[in-house]
Amino acid sequence: MMHHTTPRRLASLLPAHARSLSAAAALLWTAATPLAVAQDTATVDTAPVSIDELVGRMTMAEKAGQLNMLAGLWDVTGPVQERGPEREKYEAIRNGKVGAMLNVTGVDATRTAQRIAVEESRLGIPLLFGYDVVHGYETMFPTPLAEACSWDLDLMRRTAAAAAIEATDEGIHWTFAPMVDVSRDARWGRVVEGAGEDPYLGSKIAVARVRGFQGEDLADPQTVAACLKHFAAYGFAEAGRDYNTVDISRMTLQNVVMPPFRAGVDAGAVSVMTAFNEVNGIPATADRAMLRGVLRKDLGFGGLVLSDYGSCQHLVLHGYASNLKEAARMSLEGGCDMDMEGNAYASKLEELVKSGVVPESLVDQSVYRVLDLKQRLGLFDDPYRYCGGGARADAEAMTALSREAGRKSIVLLHNRDNALPIAEGVGSIAVIGPLADDRDAPLGTWRAKAAADSAVTVLEGVQAALGKHAKISHAEGCRLLNDTPRGFALKSSVNETDLTGIEEAAELAAESDLVLLVVGEDCYQSGEARSRARIDLPGVQPQLVKAVTAANPNTVILLMSGRPLAVPEECELAAAVLQVWHLGSQSGHAIADVLTGAYNPSAKLAASVPRSVGQAPIYYNHKNTGRPGVEDDTQVWYSHYEDESNEPLFPFGHGLSYTTFKYSNLKLSDETFTEGETLTVTADVKNIGERAGVETAQLYLRDPVASRTRPVLQLRGFEQVSLEPGESATVEFVLQPAAFGFRDETGNLLVEPGEFRVFVGGSSESLLRTSCRMEPAGHSSAAD
Ligand code: NOJ
Repeated sequence: MMHHTTPRRLASLLPAHARSLSAAAALLWTAATPLAVAQDTATVDTAPVSIDELVGRMTMAEKAGQLNMLAGLWDVTGPVQERGPEREKYEAIRNGKVGAMLNVTGVDATRTAQRIAVEESRLGIPLLFGYDVVHGYETMFPTPLAEACSWDLDLMRRTAAAAAIEATDEGIHWTFAPMVDVSRDARWGRVVEGAGEDPYLGSKIAVARVRGFQGEDLADPQTVAACLKHFAAYGFAEAGRDYNTVDISRMTLQNVVMPPFRAGVDAGAVSVMTAFNEVNGIPATADRAMLRGVLRKDLGFGGLVLSDYGSCQHLVLHGYASNLKEAARMSLEGGCDMDMEGNAYASKLEELVKSGVVPESLVDQSVYRVLDLKQRLGLFDDPYRYCGGGARADAEAMTALSREAGRKSIVLLHNRDNALPIAEGVGSIAVIGPLADDRDAPLGTWRAKAAADSAVTVLEGVQAALGKHAKISHAEGCRLLNDTPRGFALKSSVNETDLTGIEEAAELAAESDLVLLVVGEDCYQSGEARSRARIDLPGVQPQLVKAVTAANPNTVILLMSGRPLAVPEECELAAAVLQVWHLGSQSGHAIADVLTGAYNPSAKLAASVPRSVGQAPIYYNHKNTGRPGVEDDTQVWYSHYEDESNEPLFPFGHGLSYTTFKYSNLKLSDETFTEGETLTVTADVKNIGERAGVETAQLYLRDPVASRTRPVLQLRGFEQVSLEPGESATVEFVLQPAAFGFRDETGNLLVEPGEFRVFVGGSSESLLRTSCRMEPAGHSSAAD
């Protein structure tokens, strides 16, 4: 195995910054405010000022300013509002009208804006700088869905921590991540940003990412504040179309959407972003029952709630508020503390309070939360502590981590006759496809400050790994996109007509021993506002696949995409298929590691891969229905399609290895146990193949009869084991009482005694099974 970065090593990439108060900052603060500021640098770790006192000194306009997040001019991640020149933004900061900014990046820009806030505004309150640091800052790691397939929680913690190190070095305090939206619909472009379809895996990943970003101590200048988003149910947009209406049952909301938010809140996430969508008729940014009820009361969230980009303003477009003033009132009353680039709070709050419509105390609560976050980040100690000038991230360690994360995220979907790994002694390899030598696509969407065209391509990776032993040749085959400007804010223009290059590629394929065919999606074909009604290979790529596989059946397809793609025919035609996603900076090397067997693939799908778009939404933890599938397919009265199977192309949890793992000996600590007790489940996993490998053993439960119908399977545990050939291990899962339960419509946990089925295996479709019985507490036998 290749060497890899340990968490300890990553943590030691940089010496810890001095955490003492800079004399200059202290003076600025005292100069701007007559408040008591501790001057002794040894004692300023805790609050240097009283927030209550500070709030007491603020004018209403300054309070509204603290609740206003303004977009910088330096980056665009949403519709461009009416923007004044830079000096107008500076003027607003100077006048105390801005509490936070997004998309202001780089040491110079953040220092300049911060200096104006701290030195030139009346109260000298530092700004917060937020940014979408989603899967890396300069060094890109795999897109979040890809990385979720590693099921390696420590890896995800480490990549988040590494992103925080790079981002904080350039002035960022706050990332708008992790996105914890569960989604079951690959049409939705933002599936790429989440952790897939499962609430249990999603919860574990939410915790890992929050811990990675925030570290042990938020005031550490190498950690960033995390933001759980988008509250709530954004991933359930109708028809998978981004920003669309959400109509979701309260049971699904409680049991599928909420768990990762609950876990992220429990892990200490300090902020939550509202969603663009409405949920059952109420836009999320003004949904009092959800924000003040579910989030604050039920989940116990005490941090800052931020709107999404312009979503306070959107209440008017939703048809929920009649004007911006009403939108501001409804958002604040609903529970949204800060308005991101919506100009609702900035322009209307003062008036609303002065006219007695909104009580000032309500504004004060939100202002308090903003100031509290600034204080927890240490900005009152040193407003410039994140504005660069620290030791830089260790480039070598970042590169190694990106490569490690990349290869652990690659899913081997199919491998006929062990077509992979590439056999030793193969003479000629053709690397074909529009994405084969693309340096940009692998960086993925939300690539923050990664330099364009900075990823290692598949061709480069294969050349580096095998170029000395085999003849490597390349053909583009076809273009994926037309030759038009492309980028984060532009619609993609797909080549639907130009077949030039396919014939030449097929000829090259015919004369090569092996073909690596890299097809899929450009980085901007998934992500925000990138929903697709067809989730097959875009453009003329299907023709390329047909021609190349016909010319040489020894073709391995590498699916480079943000989302799962419905490509059953292509999978039939290929000897092997790797889902290589958008893997980040080291993509080509990570892919070569897997192709050559230097790394034995270990990833498992975090999202089902549909056979066709008509199956969406598709997910393993579905209900049984009253008319589930029947074995006798001569009759029609059951839930199915006339023209498609119910089954996905590849199920949740699926992922092959170059070795084989055999499961046996599924055992329970007790076949009968009492409500409130834990149950221990064990199984043996043996590596019966010829290579060392890592396997993720998965535990699922089914509650066959309950007061609300339950899914046919629910993931309730997983464990990774690394096994040498012939080696076996016993995996153990300790199921807490809550693992058997579910939430009712209002969020109460119900644990209902009775029969439970227990499953362990290497994918949601290949499982050993047994069952057990939970007796009610206080009863010796099941009287019911
Ligand atoms: C809109 C997106 O929905 C959100 O996820 C992102 O954080 C903001 N824009 C800021 O870029």
